[in-house]
Amino acid sequence: MATDDPFSEKLRVPEALTFDDVLLRPKQSRVEPDEADMRTRVSRNVTLTIPVVSAAMDTVTEADLAIEMARQGGLGVLHRNMGVEAMTDQIEAVKRADELIIRDVVTAAPDQTVRDVDAMMDRAGVSGAPVVADDDTVLGIISGTDIRPYLQVGEHDEVREAMTDEVITAAEDVTAREALELMYEHKIERVPVVDADDRLTGLVTMAGVLARREYDAAARDDDGALIAAAAVGPFETERARAADAAGADVLFIDCAHAHNLDVIDAARDIRTEVDADVVVGNVGTREAAEAIVEFADGIKVGIGPGSICTTRVVSGSGMPQITAVAEVADVARRHDVPVIADGGIRYSGDAIKAIAAGADAVMLGSYFAGTDEAPGRVITMNGKRYKQYRGMGSVGAMNDGGGDRYLKDDEDGEEFVPEGVEAAKPYTGSLASELHQLVGGMQSGMGYVGAETVPEFQEISEFVRVSAAGQTESHAHDVVITDEAPNYSPEN
Ligand code: XMP
Repeated sequence: MATDDPFSEKLRVPEALTFDDVLLRPKQSRVEPDEADMRTRVSRNVTLTIPVVSAAMDTVTEADLAIEMARQGGLGVLHRNMGVEAMTDQIEAVKRADELIIRDVVTAAPDQTVRDVDAMMDRAGVSGAPVVADDDTVLGIISGTDIRPYLQVGEHDEVREAMTDEVITAAEDVTAREALELMYEHKIERVPVVDADDRLTGLVTMAGVLARREYDAAARDDDGALIAAAAVGPFETERARAADAAGADVLFIDCAHAHNLDVIDAARDIRTEVDADVVVGNVGTREAAEAIVEFADGIKVGIGPGSICTTRVVSGSGMPQITAVAEVADVARRHDVPVIADGGIRYSGDAIKAIAAGADAVMLGSYFAGTDEAPGRVITMNGKRYKQYRGMGSVGAMNDGGGDRYLKDDEDGEEFVPEGVEAAKPYTGSLASELHQLVGGMQSGMGYVGAETVPEFQEISEFVRVSAAGQTESHAHDVVITDEAPNYSPEN
């Protein structure tokens, strides 16, 4: 910017837009909203059924919410305000929830005593176990009913005496339906899965099949387990390795400003250490996207749009979200890297605008913080029910260990400079019903534009600019609302 008046020149500022500044231009359409296919990629190798991700915040995503998100077709990103072991336990809980073929099978040996096996099954919380030889060949199956005293099996007898040795097994490619048919036909509750040499490779249980049937649009990996994701700090290599080993499909490098060069170096190193996809963020500009796009499997966008964020007012820095997403998506698209729009989404309309601006998926915190599955209990204030919701850069979250996202530490005993607030969200009930409203609204947006798939929608959607008067007109106006709608609140 060569000029004799550099500061005045600086005031010739480009415009940056956010959700309320734009609307989707309605277009000719034959697409009914419920026909709109919401499938998308959240990272290079991970596909979701709906383009929705829950925020890695300690008042939003722990295992319960992550499991339900994946069951509904989205993704929950476990927060990192917990120890590494707690995080790996939670990742494993997500991966194990309603998997079809259990890989980590509790097995018994034929020469173990009945008492031993009974105690072992008790400890593992299972009610039956395949009996396998040293080379994993399946010899039988033993269950609680085989070892009940009335069957006159002594507790010191060997398992081979008590087990059922006519075992019904299935091959690796068994489907849920086939497994269920086998179980009904033979009146059994578990079917060992074996390879061509009859060696045990997994187990299908009745409980697992039934849980899966309920969630036919769930986001699953190739083995049928739910997709799991966890946040890791850019300098937390150990946490990243542990999350990867525990089976996380995606790691989210969790940083408020990923255009920091030390962060980029560290994130690149993590990328080389793990098998999981690595999403890097947050960024908000074209230049930042260019700096990470070569190695990132996904790019997360959002510098200060979040409902509990005060980054923009505290630091004076940030990018209105629609422009931020569009700048990053221009770069990411050329490298076929998915983009996630993180923060600031209050309504389903905001979410679909973010997709139109180039995001492949959206990440939300406040929208889910009031649900049953979010951590924490319901509190009552003035007769209304709420759940706690706080920024990860708030004093409370930083005191609990979450401050380094904001590149500060308290080792020198100095006070934190927070970039977030502690708040509450109205209690909203089940995550499934919140997601139903969110995704239903997004599908409606695709219907107005006439797009059947997310990529088509990104391609053909157009924005119009909205004036302040247009914005007022968009909301309910000139009326007194008498009944709350499930997807709209003027206070949002
Ligand atoms: P929403 O609007 O969905 O935003 O509640 C969630 C996103 O906000 C970010 N986040 C923060 N940003 N200070 C910030 O500047 C904070 O304390 C803070 N905590 C969370 C984060 O990207 C999250 O996904």
